[in-house]
Amino acid sequence: MELKDKVAAVTGATSGIGLAVAHNLRSAGMKLVLTGRREERLKKIAAELGQTAYVAGDMTDPAVPGRIVQKALSEFGRCDAVINNAGTIEMGSVEEIDIDRMCEMVRLNTEAAFRMIYVALRHFRSVGGGDMITTSSVLGKTVRPRFGAYAGTKYAIEGLCEGLRKEMAGTGIRVMAVQPGLVMTELHDDWEVHPKDAQGMKTPLQPEDIARSVRFMLEQPDHVVIPQLMVLPAEAEI
Ligand SMILES: NC(=O)c1ccc[n+]([C@@H]2O[C@H](COP(=O)([O-])OP(=O)(O)OC[C@H]3O[C@@H](n4cnc5c(N)ncnc54)[C@H](OP(=O)(O)O)[C@@H]3O)[C@@H](O)[C@H]2O)c1
Repeated sequence: MELKDKVAAVTGATSGIGLAVAHNLRSAGMKLVLTGRREERLKKIAAELGQTAYVAGDMTDPAVPGRIVQKALSEFGRCDAVINNAGTIEMGSVEEIDIDRMCEMVRLNTEAAFRMIYVALRHFRSVGGGDMITTSSVLGKTVRPRFGAYAGTKYAIEGLCEGLRKEMAGTGIRVMAVQPGLVMTELHDDWEVHPKDAQGMKTPLQPEDIARSVRFMLEQPDHVVIPQLMVLPAEAEI
């Protein structure tokens, strides 16, 4: 679609991939609604970008997805795309992972992502079209030891998106998932050993690499859909 003057909501836009997507889509002329819990960051980013509104809140609050779509409609009169990106990671063997933190991750990566899709879908249905891109992961397609719980949340996303894409065939609603490999963001900030070092990787992805891919998916003409786009560091052996 032609992006100029269209409206996109981007969840998890206070850092990392979501922030880079916001910059990229804004440079393409889109108007934005950004979300995250850190309101000060949202305020600053919105002021820098211009034509950008925000909703501060926890995505696991079931009311938040509806507030995001409503914000797009009240500020800009339309909502053409949702980049369903907020997420977190808990790593650990199934025997040792902190079960409560794991369940928080499931609530955010899976339940909240599903609710966002559910709400956006109703709006897109009412206007006869729209684009939905959810940030999955390469770990939505393959699993490694100690990443089973995280991969489970992303496999769930893949299943939902693929089922929904088929249900929406021919409706004007495009359902897509982007599947990044290792990206340098705040996601691994509190890890004792960064996965880049654990994997001996020299040149992991940057958030802008994923932002370019998201824009590419959105810019396809209406008769084209890219259901999944995996984006890996060229040196990845996964
Ligand atoms: N980095 C990677 O290697 C990689 C690889 C594959 C897939 N991914 C996926 O990419 C997505 C973005 O992650 P990232 O790498 O960009 O990490 P990040 O820099 O940590 O960004 C995560 C974003 O999600 C938001 N968020 C976290 N918990 C939230 C909550 N409970 N409610 C609302 N917003 C919340 C954060 O904002 P606040 O803290 O302000 O709430 C932040 O904007 C995630 O879905 C992740 O699984 C990342």
